[in-house]
This record gives sequence, C-alpha cells and structure tokens, in this order.
Amino acid sequence: MQVIIFDNADDVGEYAADMISRGVELGEIKVLGIATGSSPQPIYNSLVKKRTPQLGSISAFALDEYVGLPYSHPESYHAVVQREVTGPLGLDPSRVHVPDGAAQDIVRACADYERDIAAAGGIDLQILGIGASGHIGFNEPTSSLASRTRIKTLTDATRADNARFFDSVDEVPRHCITQGLGTIMEAKNILLIAQGKGKAHAIAQAIEGPLTSMCPASLLQMHPRVTVVLDPEAASELRLADYYRRVFEDRPTEQ
Ligand code: GLP
Repeated sequence: MQVIIFDNADDVGEYAADMISRGVELGEIKVLGIATGSSPQPIYNSLVKKRTPQLGSISAFALDEYVGLPYSHPESYHAVVQREVTGPLGLDPSRVHVPDGAAQDIVRACADYERDIAAAGGIDLQILGIGASGHIGFNEPTSSLASRTRIKTLTDATRADNARFFDSVDEVPRHCITQGLGTIMEAKNILLIAQGKGKAHAIAQAIEGPLTSMCPASLLQMHPRVTVVLDPEAASELRLADYYRRVFEDRPTEQ
C-alpha cells in the first residue's frame, strides 16, 4: 500500500487526477470505478481542467446506489453521477453504469451488475472514499469480506452522515445496492482518497489497524496495488506518517 500525504486537499485531488488522466491517455485505464460523496470531488474538478479527450471512450461503474429512489430524484446516485461525473468529465452516458436501485428484481439487478463489470473486462482503477465507520462503497461494518454486489441495510450513522443531502434523515433511504468487498478487491488498482479530521480514525484503522470486517476498508491491506492519498488532517492519526512521507520523497524509480 502506498500512502501519500499532501499539504492540502487541492494537491490530493490534483495528484489523483494526474494518475487517472495519465492512465487513461496511456490506455491503461479503460474501465474506471467511480465513487460519489464529497471525497472524490477534488479529483473530478481537477480532471475537468485537464481535458483528457480519451475519457469519452472509457467505461465507468459506480460503487453503489440507494434502493427505492427514482432515477429522477436529485440525490439518487444515478442523478449524482450524471451531474458530478458523466457530464463534467465528458464520459459517454451509454458507458456509465450505476446499480439499479429502482429495479423490481433487486437480486437480479445485482447479478446483472457483476456480469456487466466482468463483460467490460473488470475495473482497471477503482476510486474510493471512506465513511467515518471505515465503510467503502456502502459495505458497512461486518460486511462479508468476500461479498459481491448485493442489497444492504444502511447503519443509522451512515444515514445521519448522508442526511445533509436530504431535507431530513427520515428521507434517507434505509437500503442500498453496493458492490461487495470481494467485487472491489478484483479491481486491478485502487485509489482511496480522504480529507479532513472526520476521516482520521477510519484511515488509521484501515491502514494500520487489524484486518477486520468491523473496518471494511482494512481489507485493502490484502490488495497488491492500493494508493491512498490524504491531506494532513485525514493522516493525523497515522502512527507511521513520517515514514510514509519519507517513503514518497525517497521513492525508488522502480516504484
Ligand atoms: C457514502 C458513499 C461512499 C463514500 C462515503 C463517504 O456512504 N456510499 O462511497 O465513500 O459516503 O462520503 P464522503 O466522501 O462524502 O465523506
């Protein structure tokens, strides 16, 4: 796992966007895993400025979606992805996939999503944010470490966190579809981004804590190609922060 700590949140987004833009230009990223939430926003903002025309021909798969919200609801991830990612980045809407939380047959929709990812050749780079509980996608604590795309029940803490996007917490759906932890682990590369003090504990648990389903992001310790980009606040509870800074400054060319 490569842990990179920048002096401010803008540099975090810029570095991550550079990585994606370069990968797309070189043809190494043909399928991008996209995340919603505030964490990846600086990546998308920087990517817009880079104007990478090849983005128009990649495929993208979102991590998750609420169950029971119509696509037209402004906070459905279908709408959020269209507004914050597909449109601004110039992705081809017909190649952007979001789990179907409005499906009549949710079990089938989950299986179809797994099939579509596989048919696209798998995800080359998955962008991840992290919840304060250590969740990735909507894989809440105690999610099976081998889980696949499925319906999940959101915790009260996640619903309270996400209430800021709705008029009240009662309007936040209780269920979601999320790529499973096993699904996420099949991405060839993973890029986790976190900013702010509110993420410091989850980040420390994910990177330096034990591997446990109580912190789903700790499973990333088992993935061979993970880059974590942090601002100083998100990195503030890392015991080995100075080491990570030195590793990055002195990185051998082979890395
Ligand atoms: C939601 C999303 C996650 C996201 C998390 C953190 O639960 N399903 O994918 O990582 O929130 O969101 P934010 O980046 O807004 O803090």
